[in-house]
Amino acid sequence: MKSDYLININGTIGTPDQVKISVLDRGLLFGDSVYEVTRTYNRRPCLIHEHLDRLYQSAARIGITMPCNRSELTGQMQKSLDAFFSKGAREAYIRIIVTRGEGEIGLDPDYAEHPNLIIIVREQKQNPESWYQQGVKLVIADILRNPPRSMDPSVKSGNYLNNLMAFMQAKEQAAFEAVMLNEKGMVTEGTTSNIWLVKNNIIKTPPLEAGLLSGITRQAVLIQARKNGYVVREENFLPQELYSADEVFITSSTRELVPVYQIDEHKIDNNVPGSMTLKLLKLYREFLASNN
Ligand code: PDD
Repeated sequence: MKSDYLININGTIGTPDQVKISVLDRGLLFGDSVYEVTRTYNRRPCLIHEHLDRLYQSAARIGITMPCNRSELTGQMQKSLDAFFSKGAREAYIRIIVTRGEGEIGLDPDYAEHPNLIIIVREQKQNPESWYQQGVKLVIADILRNPPRSMDPSVKSGNYLNNLMAFMQAKEQAAFEAVMLNEKGMVTEGTTSNIWLVKNNIIKTPPLEAGLLSGITRQAVLIQARKNGYVVREENFLPQELYSADEVFITSSTRELVPVYQIDEHKIDNNVPGSMTLKLLKLYREFLASNN
């Protein structure tokens, strides 16, 4: 399985066995890194300007100096994709990681010698049709989303232990994704996705101030929904509102919009996928097609 991965570390491309990173890298020691995930459509990276904007912002927020400028990074990504597609894959998953680098062990960021750029490419398979036909199950996690004054969720850092622990709770209950609340008990987002509900034709997703990642898919869906005259509110809500919603769905770059049929023990009443979810999925896909 590992051989399906193409790795680019600071410009050197190879398999996971050929190109490696030091165990003294702070990404490994402390999760001291930032990252982005996108995918290709027609072999071209999706919404790459938006992802690079967020990557550079995340790095700046935690004081990591990017190892190269945007056009160099785009060049490295293209080089990685060209090598990957030359082997015949149809579409790619792309993960771009920037660590603060390696050096003496210790928290002091000045120990880092230079930032490392890692690009991981593997095949992006088509999402299973069952997601769109039957939907997926979510649980509300006991683990809270980090408050913004802690490791701010709006920074896409490599430190995902909190989310990983919440995801473990989903797995224990055979669910697809866990939803995390903030300290006030309000819904924030999934462990690797943003969350939405529809009630009486009003579309709602928590506001950024709830403490969450400003998803690129979230932003695109917000814009497309408003452009097409739907009522969309970025508004705080409790898990109970999810339980009694007409429709619930999650969004992420690799999964687009995925309908939800159950949250904890509560089944979504309407047919899944809901009609609004399908309309928004269609709008999102049309938007991507016109962009790529
Ligand atoms: N995850 N919230 C969190 C915590 C995320 O990690 C992600 C993305 C999202 C959705 O953001 P976007 O629409 O920009 O993909 C929301 C990626 C896909 C991942 O970690 O694989």
